Amino acid sequence: MTVSRVPSLRRFLVCEPRHFAVQYAINPWMCPDSPVDVDLAHEQWQALIRAYRAHGHTVDTVEPAPGLPDMVFAANSAVVVDGRVFGSLFHAPERRPESGHYDTWFKTAGFDVHRPESVCEGEGDLVWTGRYMLAGTGFRTTREAHREVQEFFGHPVVSLTLVDPHFYHLDTALFVLDGRPGHGNIAYYPEAFSPGSREVLARLYPDAVLATRDDAMTFGLNSVSDGRNVFIAPRAEALAGRLADRGYVPVPVDLSEFQKAGGGIKCCTQEIRS
Ligand code: ARG
Repeated sequence: MTVSRVPSLRRFLVCEPRHFAVQYAINPWMCPDSPVDVDLAHEQWQALIRAYRAHGHTVDTVEPAPGLPDMVFAANSAVVVDGRVFGSLFHAPERRPESGHYDTWFKTAGFDVHRPESVCEGEGDLVWTGRYMLAGTGFRTTREAHREVQEFFGHPVVSLTLVDPHFYHLDTALFVLDGRPGHGNIAYYPEAFSPGSREVLARLYPDAVLATRDDAMTFGLNSVSDGRNVFIAPRAEALAGRLADRGYVPVPVDLSEFQKAGGGIKCCTQEIRS
């Protein structure tokens, strides 16, 4: 029997890829010699925004700044829960100036912004499940930041260690399918995690959708779910099929140009939870 899934409307913050490019290499996907098709990137990004709006979600935009080619990856600049904003402090010096632009957007929109003391890359590594904050470490966000996040939000933080450089952010290896109390579930790629972290995930989510390396390498886990519709990379066909078997509705959106920078749908999307 297929379950009927219930969507909930979201508010997203995104950044137009006006200055998007691959100009440095801070993850294994980035190769500064392979040029980005700027027009195609723009079309792909617009299609994502249209898909969100067509499903009833609200999309706000932050003004892109020249010289910050990764600023399009809005997820990395904060994590917002209960209307409280925990800002970012990037690992790579090239990305550090992005934080100020996002902080300004949040302040103008009426939010206070907490500045982290340790390296912390927002929703790239901090995934709110509706109950816990799953927190990645190993490549970018530090354990010290996990402690700061727990202290700030007063929600339990579950630290997870990432071990494969292709999955350098937690949101490349795991996403939340449904965050409603009593319905919480996730999809993830177990091999991206240390053995202990794998056990933690198996205990917390015995019913999780498990992804293969192929699903993960096609950015299938860098997806956004509203509880019913899953905005997912079209090449992650096998994973989309398994999600459909569980009653979710895959909405394919191709962000292939952004994969050249190591990013996908979720990376381009910051969720504002008020
Ligand atoms: N080039 C960016 C970086 O390596 C990509 C960020 C992708 N964002 C994400 N949420 N995984 O920092």
